[in-house]
Amino acid sequence: MWNDDFGEPGPGRSAALRMTAVTRRHGRGRSAVHALRGVDVSLSAGSFTAVMGPSGSGKSTLLQCAAGLDRPTAGSVRLGGQELTRMGRRALTRLRRAHVGFVFQSFNLLPSLTAEQNVLLPLRLAGRPARRERPRAREALDRVGLADRLHSRPGELSGGQQQRVALARALVTEPEVICADEPTGALDPVTAEDVLALLRDAVDGLGATVLMVTHDPAAAACADTVLFLADGHLVDRLEPASGSAVPRGDGGTGAPGVRPVDVIADRMRSLSGAGARPRSAPGAAVPAPPAEVAL
Ligand SMILES: Nc1ncnc2c1ncn2[C@@H]1O[C@H](COP(=O)(O)OP(=O)(O)OP(=O)(O)O)[C@@H](O)[C@H]1O
Ligand SMILES: [Mg+2]
Repeated sequence: MWNDDFGEPGPGRSAALRMTAVTRRHGRGRSAVHALRGVDVSLSAGSFTAVMGPSGSGKSTLLQCAAGLDRPTAGSVRLGGQELTRMGRRALTRLRRAHVGFVFQSFNLLPSLTAEQNVLLPLRLAGRPARRERPRAREALDRVGLADRLHSRPGELSGGQQQRVALARALVTEPEVICADEPTGALDPVTAEDVLALLRDAVDGLGATVLMVTHDPAAAACADTVLFLADGHLVDRLEPASGSAVPRGDGGTGAPGVRPVDVIADRMRSLSGAGARPRSAPGAAVPAPPAEVAL
């Protein structure tokens, strides 16, 4: 059963998402890759969290573990009060389809389906008849500015347009939790702003909980909280909206006029300088699971 008590994390109440001591290791022995090395994350319902970090720091892995698309090697992931790590594959798929929207770094659209059919897919998988749900799919595509491309296949769309179809597909079921892996990575600044506004609306209007990976400090500044990952560790946390992104005290950089976006960019620069690899193209690091498996 899905636990609808999505209250603030605290004694006796469940967070929308709670990850405790999550590790994810690929392979064994000396060739093992440690994607996550004991990460704790707790998100309350109706919150917007950005995840930043150098390429290879574990951001996509964190998102995929949070959404039940990948299984941690150790640790606990509770989504809506349910422990994912002990769940069978079918139960996990059911829970994900009902409650989670996922935007993949590599979009993961089905190439043989039109934009409209791709957006209809999660509704069809939930057993809702396509004919009745078509207006909802069209509205979702309209919201991302693609009302005129309903019948285009992914191969006929630009990267940014495909990214927006992927976002429409993630939002169409109005899920409680939305995980978005670089949802603005292929967009121009104006379209990126529109997409961020859509995510913000899902949080403020529908009470959704958003976990978004981004490399863009301006996108991260739209979130309530920014988490920083480095080499599989959670190393920092800022709260741009409350002003705590602005360092105070000794450093003297907390002077009025310091913008959160600059503080975030500065923090990212200091992490990227610490021996991080250069950023790869979206989707290059890890192939996402096929859409028909992941939806
Ligand atoms: N299936 C896999 N097999 C082996 N290593 C993997 C696998 N998936 C991820 N990794 C490794 O885990 C680490 C974290 O990968 P992840 O994709 O989470 O990084 P990321 O922070 O999302 O990077 P990017 O910004 O480039 O997308 C990387 O070193 C990556 O190569
Ligand atoms: Mg990634």
